[in-house]
Amino acid sequence: MKALLYNMTPEQQVYVDKWNQNHVEDELQTTVKKLDAETVELAKGFDVISVLQIFDINEEAVYRKLASYGIKQIALRSVGYNIINWEFAHKYNLIITNTPAYSPRAVAENTLTSAMYLLRKWGPIFKNEYEDLNFVRSEDLISDEIYNQTIGIIGVGRIGGAVAELFHALGAKVIAYDIVENPANEAFLDYTDFETVIKEADILTLHTPFEPGMDNMLGAAEFKKMKSTAYIINAARGPLIDIQALITALKNREIAGASLDVMTGEENIVMKKFTNIAELPADYQELAKMPNVVFTPHSAYYTKTSVKNMIEQSMTDVKRVLNGQKPIYLVEE
Ligand code: COI
Repeated sequence: MKALLYNMTPEQQVYVDKWNQNHVEDELQTTVKKLDAETVELAKGFDVISVLQIFDINEEAVYRKLASYGIKQIALRSVGYNIINWEFAHKYNLIITNTPAYSPRAVAENTLTSAMYLLRKWGPIFKNEYEDLNFVRSEDLISDEIYNQTIGIIGVGRIGGAVAELFHALGAKVIAYDIVENPANEAFLDYTDFETVIKEADILTLHTPFEPGMDNMLGAAEFKKMKSTAYIINAARGPLIDIQALITALKNREIAGASLDVMTGEENIVMKKFTNIAELPADYQELAKMPNVVFTPHSAYYTKTSVKNMIEQSMTDVKRVLNGQKPIYLVEE
């Protein structure tokens, strides 16, 4: 099998090299480039391609050209599949696979880290210390303890389930909403409706896929229903939150803070280095001034286990498809 892996980075390359050593019949080649209408031509001569990117693949030419090169599969090395244009994927008969099980625990542990950071007021504490050289333990820095909190989860797939398990183990009450309820999760959480989760959560965390129609799932109306002491965590997809409404809600103290690993417009930020805050998009600049807000560069998934499994699971499904077997992780839309 001859595969081209787009969006390559040094830490992934280690596992690509291992795959090549352990599978002499295969040839994995890599490029740091993202897949788009310009770079699609690199795929000529390969059996299959794989991507790990946050940039949407919306140009029809990409799908048309892949099909014309005889490529039958795009192997996503991500959980999310929202970058795919399904109309074109279907039109050109491209099979889409993903890697939803690379490490639910990675995102779950990052969610726990976010929750503790917000709850223990580390943002304001660091600001006082590093910006103002102020080490006073003032009343506004007093914290709550996690086992007294209600964790609200929207979306309980593999990741949401792992999140529930972690918080449940710490003694927190976990409530959740999903369109499909999995009885196995009931050991760790109580399912309820969306509205109740929003209203009762002390910490509200999103773990849904991003499907059409889910833009701004949390907006001005939802923030008004939340506890003014509540925190929001988003490590799912940026457009699930109306960012302008979030900024307003934070300014009006309708909610207490947020941890954003993803955000609308993150393509302009993630994997880039800036020299001055004025270079950031306006919404990032506003949020960066708020000590009760933290953003991370879409790194909730970013562990050694995840990276290893992304390569191994995506390439396993590539081999299955090329051998005429059903892939383990077929995305069906
Ligand atoms: C995912 O796996 O869905 C992620 O969000 C990781 C990202 C680098 C695409």
